[in-house]
Amino acid sequence: MTAIAATAEVLPAEGAAASCAPVGLVIVGHGRWGANHARAAATARGTVLKGVVDPRPAAREAARQRYGVRTSASLSQALSDSSVEAVVIATPAATHTEVVSEALRSGRHVLVEKPAAMNLAEAQMMAAEADARGLQLSAGHTFLYTQPVRNLARWLREAAPSTPWLVRSERLGGRRRTDCDVLWNFGPHDVSVLLHLLAEPVVEVTARGHRFPGGRHLDGVTLDLGFASGVRGEVYLGWRHPGAKRSLRVLGEDWAVKYRHGHLDGEDTLTQTGPQGPKEIDRLLADGCRPGERGGLRGYREPLILQLEEFALACRTGKPTVSGPEHLLAVTSVLEAAARSAELGGRALVPEPVVRPRTGESAAPFQSAGQALAQH
Ligand SMILES: NC(=O)c1ccc[n+]([C@@H]2O[C@H](COP(=O)([O-])OP(=O)(O)OC[C@H]3O[C@@H](n4cnc5c(N)ncnc54)[C@H](O)[C@@H]3O)[C@@H](O)[C@H]2O)c1
Repeated sequence: MTAIAATAEVLPAEGAAASCAPVGLVIVGHGRWGANHARAAATARGTVLKGVVDPRPAAREAARQRYGVRTSASLSQALSDSSVEAVVIATPAATHTEVVSEALRSGRHVLVEKPAAMNLAEAQMMAAEADARGLQLSAGHTFLYTQPVRNLARWLREAAPSTPWLVRSERLGGRRRTDCDVLWNFGPHDVSVLLHLLAEPVVEVTARGHRFPGGRHLDGVTLDLGFASGVRGEVYLGWRHPGAKRSLRVLGEDWAVKYRHGHLDGEDTLTQTGPQGPKEIDRLLADGCRPGERGGLRGYREPLILQLEEFALACRTGKPTVSGPEHLLAVTSVLEAAARSAELGGRALVPEPVVRPRTGESAAPFQSAGQALAQH
């Protein structure tokens, strides 16, 4: 077994997926987010939408009318089509392990929405199953596919005046979900961005969580992450905040970069501060974007489409995506430690080391934690 760390890989060149034969995709779950995946699959380079799966007749009818594709009430029906090579899963969080398992066992590549799994054991079983079958497994950590985040990662490696000492990420607002708590719903985005930017493992996690009156799940969580080099990460997650806010600040000794994801008002902004105060953003940070007034960034391709194109390329070349198994496992390990820390009232914990079988080692039998508990 080998221990693995987070990596900051550069995403593939734009248009690379177009040079391969298109990958036949099925979208599982045509709800609020799955509908975006279906639209992306129908327009991305290197993919062809073969079908949509949803148990709700209205969701199937909407997909049939929009795309004229075959629709099914169950994944097993859709998998009888041999031209389906990959499955994109956008079902509620609690169903992910079972649906991923069925897709991988049928020999299909998988892109699964966040949270891919809600504990490390299940994430490791997914990764082992994919490895053993030579299949791609990728998590829907969409923010790794935004141009500003991609640029920021490169700028930190190649052009930042010094190493940062703090990265702070806030994700507030949105509707309260019933399929998981705010840590597992929002947290995968922030933790994946921090791991990608800093490209080093988290060695300590402290979390505190709160429920709003009548809540079953955590509605607000603060995370304090210690990275191997001593850089700190702070993450503040909460839904039911008035107005949505997604912001990321990277602070060095006498510089700072702030990225605000527009989300509701549609415009992302990236602002940079130097020793003398606000400055025009570096060319590397604006690469591939059209800088507007007051730090506005426009003109870059939709992250969901880029994510799907990188996934299609991975299916064809065998090179994992930037949100592939290693990244998925690293994110899940941090979130699992955070969930435990919050349960313990904010005790500092070391995340479980992330291990994967080497290629050729057989995968552990695939079963969900629920199944494992039921057997004991
Ligand atoms: N990456 C992102 O930025 C992002 C944004 C929003 C949601 N998501 C994720 O996408 C997933 C879906 O979220 P949503 O908001 O679309 O939920 P939703 O409830 O709107 O839609 C889920 C759909 O899945 C269907 N479904 C349920 N079980 C199924 C099964 N076993 N097989 C096939 N279909 C099934 C439901 O009928 C429903 O249509 C969640 O994991 C969520 O966290 C990701």
